[in-house]
Amino acid sequence: MRSLQEIFYVTERELFLRHVAQTSPSPLAFEIAKAEGCLLYDENGKEYIDLIGGISVANVGHRHPKVVEAIKNQVDTYMHVMVYGEFVESPQVQYAKLLTDHLPSSLNSVYFTNSGAEAIEGAMKLAKRAANRTQIIAFKNSYHGSTQGALSIMGDEYWRNAFRPLLPDILHLEYDSFESLNEISENTACVILETVQAEAGVIVPSGEWMKAIRKKCNGTGTLLILDEIQTGFGRTGSLWGFEKFRIVPDILVLGKALGGGMPLGAFIADKKLMNVLTEDPVLGHITTFGGHPVSCAAGMAAMKVLLEENLIDSVHEKEKLFLSLLKHGKIRTSRSCGLWLSIGFDSFEINKKVIDNCLTNGIMADWFLFASNCLRISSPLIITEGQIRIASEKILEACNTL
Ligand SMILES: Cc1ncc(COP(=O)(O)O)c(C=O)c1O
Repeated sequence: MRSLQEIFYVTERELFLRHVAQTSPSPLAFEIAKAEGCLLYDENGKEYIDLIGGISVANVGHRHPKVVEAIKNQVDTYMHVMVYGEFVESPQVQYAKLLTDHLPSSLNSVYFTNSGAEAIEGAMKLAKRAANRTQIIAFKNSYHGSTQGALSIMGDEYWRNAFRPLLPDILHLEYDSFESLNEISENTACVILETVQAEAGVIVPSGEWMKAIRKKCNGTGTLLILDEIQTGFGRTGSLWGFEKFRIVPDILVLGKALGGGMPLGAFIADKKLMNVLTEDPVLGHITTFGGHPVSCAAGMAAMKVLLEENLIDSVHEKEKLFLSLLKHGKIRTSRSCGLWLSIGFDSFEINKKVIDNCLTNGIMADWFLFASNCLRISSPLIITEGQIRIASEKILEACNTL
């Protein structure tokens, strides 16, 4: 039988809307044909400067040749062979070694997962088992993923409420508030926070507050979990976001850029701590595809590119250039932390007009989940000075049309 597409010509956009599950009534529905470096191309061959990098994923750019080569080599060797944790798979082993070589010595054991949310789930499970306590403290306006555990700690009632009942014994406190810290007690299994709040529109906490959390957790035997799913891999101007606060978490959660464009997440802790997942019950967290060899090969190649090509060195310079260029009467706020900027307008409607205008003019930008009036810039770190100038000019032109 001939398919509908053969009888009538149906565009891929229509098929997308018909058969690919939607998460919003008005998806962007950008028809991507190719991505390379800091550029995206649509089905007509039109070029776009990518200011979002797949939401802080493509830190070394899209399809970096070394990442593509690593993927091809791994595909030619083996793909999935066994559920996570049973076979010695070289890409996992080598990537875990590379990651831990670049982390404080207490973060020496890597549990690879499929996604950021799964890594968050694993980290929360690990903390509850290790501390033998149930209370989890999270923060308002935080985003940690969309699975039920991660959703339970999400810091916004609008997004959580429809899915209740969620995990019990969770407290949501004010981020960057010293008063909040009084709530951390001997009942608290873990405190989980984003090192810099992402979806709230790049909110950087004070160093004193971060140090105070670390101290309070030490005093109460509470595990400190830092979600660096967006802040990792150079985004903030250092390899890890926590470096600038001079604190070390008990559990570090990674995702997004970790896989170099392939799906990968990880939670990382001290081996002694991680070992609680091996007994009572054994297989404390299991996953079929977690740490997929192709994802690990890609992620390791991307991390090597990041380090060997010194991509982090120019992050602050590029941040400054964006900030110096993005000045306009319609821009009300500018926040940044490395190559990660939040450009605030009076309302979502105004922001949306700017984003739409940018898209028409070859610039891909986006907004933030809890700061819908703010335009997101989290471009690949390889963005050039020329591309920053063009993108900023187009944003300002869009502002002029308001
Ligand atoms: C800070 C943070 N944590 C967790 C997640 C969840 O990661 P994933 O979408 O891979 O499940 C995200 C995703 O946007 C994130 O930004």
